[in-house]
Amino acid sequence: MSQDITVGRVCFKVCIFQSGIIFNNGHKWRQQRRFALSTLKYFGFGKKSLEPVILDEFTHCAEEFRSSKGKPFNPRLAINSAVSNIICSLVFGHRFEYSDEKFRKLLGMFEDVFRMQASIWTGLYNSFPVLMRHLPGPHQTGRQAWRKVQDFVREQINEHKQTWDLSEQRDFIDCYLKEIHMGRVDNTFDEENLIVCVMDLFLAGTETTSTTLRWAFLYMAKYPEIQEKVQAEIDRVIGQSRQPSMEDRANLPYTDAVIHEIQRMGNIVPLSLPHSTNKDVQLGGYSIPKGVTIIPNLTSVLFDKNEWETPYTFNPGHFLSEEGKFVTQAAFIPFSAGKRLCLGENLARMELFLFFTSSMQHFTFSMPAGVKPSMEYRLGVTLAPKDYEVCVTSRQE
Ligand code: HEM
Repeated sequence: MSQDITVGRVCFKVCIFQSGIIFNNGHKWRQQRRFALSTLKYFGFGKKSLEPVILDEFTHCAEEFRSSKGKPFNPRLAINSAVSNIICSLVFGHRFEYSDEKFRKLLGMFEDVFRMQASIWTGLYNSFPVLMRHLPGPHQTGRQAWRKVQDFVREQINEHKQTWDLSEQRDFIDCYLKEIHMGRVDNTFDEENLIVCVMDLFLAGTETTSTTLRWAFLYMAKYPEIQEKVQAEIDRVIGQSRQPSMEDRANLPYTDAVIHEIQRMGNIVPLSLPHSTNKDVQLGGYSIPKGVTIIPNLTSVLFDKNEWETPYTFNPGHFLSEEGKFVTQAAFIPFSAGKRLCLGENLARMELFLFFTSSMQHFTFSMPAGVKPSMEYRLGVTLAPKDYEVCVTSRQE
């Protein structure tokens, strides 16, 4: 899969294709991706300066956990709000209170968009766009939600414009406005592209990380003995008096291995995103003509019996040496591989490590009395656990 096969992205008609990052190709994609990566790095992507933003968000999320008072509680909204807020901080320059009506509406609209993306109606819309545009059905709600998200982002851009200062860039939108203002030759930056880029970061950056965290807490409730080992390691290395930091990862091999195993078993993007060949290629003895859709099968790698000792059993040992040191595995590719590799990998890894470690430091997750954890999944934009309730008990009391 990491062979040198030249691929672009298949563009779905239901999306604003040939804009932004995810559904774009060629020069436009390269320029938008490079810009997004360098700008997000400037604001701390994968760096120490972003740690306080993530940890601060955890404290808000922890309040929600605490307010459940150990009673059965669905953590989905709290986790979603926290993960979305990290993107909000980078893109809009501020976070929202979880109770903020506007924020709740935004999350609701994204949910509608996600739901639509995964439904049969999107398939029908993609096949018969002209007809479906005029027919009633759930796809119309999805289309409306998509337009409302665009309006929300447009509103944020207009607010930014009113206080915009060329000499001081506060966030992703400010930097993008600067790029439009500079009007360099061959430049693909305009407001429509800005809106789609922002939506791409939300689409790709919220559901993925929050789904992984929801798997994480479910696995911990299912395997209390693994949870206890993680907590014991955190207690030994970090204790209770300070917050975790990325520097702790090297000293927390068991915790790190558990996070990797959650991602492997969670397999949240089983078929990655569709690609298409942009020239004739030879791969593994096969000739693939230009313009063919390629669907990378990440599942086949994450569950390959030649690569993993117990492919279908949760086993942190997959990432540990005999001496208990963390070991990387080439077959661990939940973020895909190659030039279109996940742009948010560094951010996602930071979020997962800091959120998971902080959660284990402060809370214990268990199933409500008499309830068995269900590892069944709901196939949508991501492969997510079905909605579940969990008891979150504070460890300090
Ligand atoms: C656990 C979390 C995540 C997982 C498992 C994940 C996984 C993936 C996968 C499998 C792809 C498709 C790569 C391909 O086409 O071959 C992708 C693309 C992408 N991801 Fe992620 N992702 C995660 C988090 C994030 C975050 C936090 C962000 C952003 C803030 C993000 C932004 C993107 C973008 C923009 C693309 C499109 C890249 C392109 O087409 O050039 N992802 N991700």
